[in-house]
Amino acid sequence: MWRTKLTELLGIDYPIIQGAMAYISESILVSAVCRAGATGVIATGGLDTDYVRDQIRKCREMTDRPFGVNLMLQSPNKDDIAQLVCDEKVSFVTIGAGNPVPFFEPLHQAGVRCIPVVPNVKLARRVQEKGADAMVIEGMEAGGHDGMQTALSLMENVIPEVQIPVIAAGGISDGRAVAAALIMGAAGVQMGSRFLLAEECQVHSKVKQAILDATDTDTVITGFTHNSNVRGLKNAFSKKYLEREYAGASSEELASMSAGTNRSAAVNGDIENGFVQVGMSLNRLSQIQSASDIVLQTVEEARSLLKNGPSLAGAGQ
Ligand SMILES: Cc1cc2nc3c(=O)[nH]c(=O)nc-3n(C[C@H](O)[C@H](O)[C@H](O)COP(=O)(O)O)c2cc1C
Repeated sequence: MWRTKLTELLGIDYPIIQGAMAYISESILVSAVCRAGATGVIATGGLDTDYVRDQIRKCREMTDRPFGVNLMLQSPNKDDIAQLVCDEKVSFVTIGAGNPVPFFEPLHQAGVRCIPVVPNVKLARRVQEKGADAMVIEGMEAGGHDGMQTALSLMENVIPEVQIPVIAAGGISDGRAVAAALIMGAAGVQMGSRFLLAEECQVHSKVKQAILDATDTDTVITGFTHNSNVRGLKNAFSKKYLEREYAGASSEELASMSAGTNRSAAVNGDIENGFVQVGMSLNRLSQIQSASDIVLQTVEEARSLLKNGPSLAGAGQ
């Protein structure tokens, strides 16, 4: 059991959040991560409210530990999901893709902690001022939708500016990266890609294999020129999309090209015409393991590095 501002805020043993992954992070994965002493987030993007209610309740049957739900502010049913989270008194929400501030008060009244995902210092200051309990800073190394800064530059820029717990994300897949984030002043980390390879992760097996086969140069960002960055594996879809993007296609055309591609890879296993969203730390993603082994191995690596920290720095010599 560790003590950081994040473990204290959420009442968890280890400062690791399994981040929401649309169409992927559901009750089986989330509850397994929670039982291992970290915490997980149920994804809601593209899903109907009844399904999400069912997932929250199933998760509760499988663990009595705290878990979170993702509030995607671009989703048409975002208000229903926010209400559901309040009714179900979920421990915390991560909030992305829009202005999280109006949601803080109703969520806080229901006892739900609010953890927005922020892309820069300006928004970090704003969400702190408006009462966020913690924040995720997500670097462009991450799988899925990305901002414009790297995780390292976000940690450099944001952490000294705020007092609430900061959770680092993007390209963090092993204990070395967790140790580095904690040394940078983060209170914990959010990991997505590594949990795609959890035995309990329900993503299509072809996606798991494509990730196992991939190496460091195999991801690409689509949508960069339209400020709608999404990182995933290079394939037939990304090639076609990037050709159109850099030929000057409109936002509407690009949005219609990408619609449904995450789902068709994650759920249907179409790894060529769908988009396998995954982060950059691909060489570390080399093994299918139980969620518990992922958490405990990561924690152990980080613990041993942090213990050896003084000798790494040559202190006392
Ligand atoms: C397949 C996939 C889907 C994702 N979907 C969501 C999502 O629905 N909502 C969200 O807030 N973040 C989403 N993310 C981001 C993760 O929660 C997490 O912040 C990110 O994966 C961390 O970087 P990493 O992939 O390098 O570990 C997604 C990431 C992946 C890989």
